Amino acid sequence: MTPSDYEFLRKLLRERSGLDLSSDKQYLVESRLIPLARRIGLPGIAELVQKLKAGSGAPTAEVVEAMTTNETFFFRDRIPFDHLRETVIPALLQARAGRRTLRIWSAASSTGQEPYSIAMCLKEFGPALAGWRIEILATDLSQAVLEKSKAGIFSQFEVQRGLPIQLLVKYFAQVGELWQLNADIRAMVQHRQLNLLQDFSHLGTFDVVFCRNVLIYFDQDTKIGIFDRLAKVLEPDGMLMLGAAESVVGISDAFKPHPERRGLYRPNPVRTARPGAAAAMPQALKAVAR
Ligand SMILES: C[S@@+](CC[C@H](N)C(=O)[O-])C[C@H]1O[C@@H](n2cnc3c(N)ncnc32)[C@H](O)[C@@H]1O
Repeated sequence: MTPSDYEFLRKLLRERSGLDLSSDKQYLVESRLIPLARRIGLPGIAELVQKLKAGSGAPTAEVVEAMTTNETFFFRDRIPFDHLRETVIPALLQARAGRRTLRIWSAASSTGQEPYSIAMCLKEFGPALAGWRIEILATDLSQAVLEKSKAGIFSQFEVQRGLPIQLLVKYFAQVGELWQLNADIRAMVQHRQLNLLQDFSHLGTFDVVFCRNVLIYFDQDTKIGIFDRLAKVLEPDGMLMLGAAESVVGISDAFKPHPERRGLYRPNPVRTARPGAAAAMPQALKAVAR
C-alpha cells in the first residue's frame, strides 16, 4: 500500500467511524481491506482507494464495517455485571419504584452478547422487576453485527465464553449445533444502527449506559465529545459503565468515578467547561454528515 493510500484511508476511517489508526497499522488495514477488495471484484487496495475517491457508489460503508473490531463475549469482564446486579439495579429499584421503568443502552453492542447479558441479569431479578417496563437498546455502527444480534443465535464457542452454564440451560434452546436465545430475552432488546460520532440526543434519556470497548479506538477529542453527549442522555442518578481499559479520568469531567466500583461513572453535577469538549463534536458531526 502506498503511503498516500494509507493516509487517505486513515483520514476516511477517522471521519466516518472515529477509528484512530496510528501511522504503523498498514498491516491491519491490508489484512481487513484486501479480502473486501477481492469480494467486490477489485484486484487490491489501490483500486479500492480509487473507487472510494470516485464518490458515487463508493463502498465507504463496507470499508468502515470491515475495519471495525467486533470482539465481544457474554458477561465480558464479569465485574461490570456484578456492579449492575449488586449496585446499580438495587439502587434503581428504589429510585424508580414510582414509575417502574428502566431504560438501558448498550452503545456499541456488537453481536449482542453485551445487551443480552444485561437482559439475563435483569430477568434474574424475577418478581422484583415484574410489571416494570424494561427497555434495553442495542446500537452499533455495523449493520452486519446488528443482524446477527437480532437473530440471537450463537455458536457453541460463543456460548462457552463467559456464559454460566445455568443461564445457558435456562435461557437458550439448542438448534442443531447452535444455541438460540429464548424469545422473551430477545424481546427485551431493541436494535438500531447508530454511529456514536453522530447526534444521539433523540434516543431520550437512560438510567444506565454501557459504552464499553469502543472508546479505546477513538482519539482524545472524540472521546471528550462523546462523554459530553453521554452525560446529557443519562439521568442525573444514572450510571455509565466503561470497558476495563477505558476511563474518563484525565479526559473529561462530564462524569465522576463511583467511589467504590471500578469502571462505573455518574454524570458530574458540577462541571467546569473544557475547551476541547465544545470544539470536538461539530467537526466530527460535519465529517459524518458529508
Ligand atoms: C470491541 S466491540 C465491543 C462490544 C461490546 N461493547 C463489548 O464490550 O464486548 C466494539 C464495537 O463498536 C462498534 N463501533 C465502532 N465504531 C463505532 C462508532 N463510531 N459508533 C458506534 N459503534 C461503533 C463496532 O462495530 C463494534 O461492534
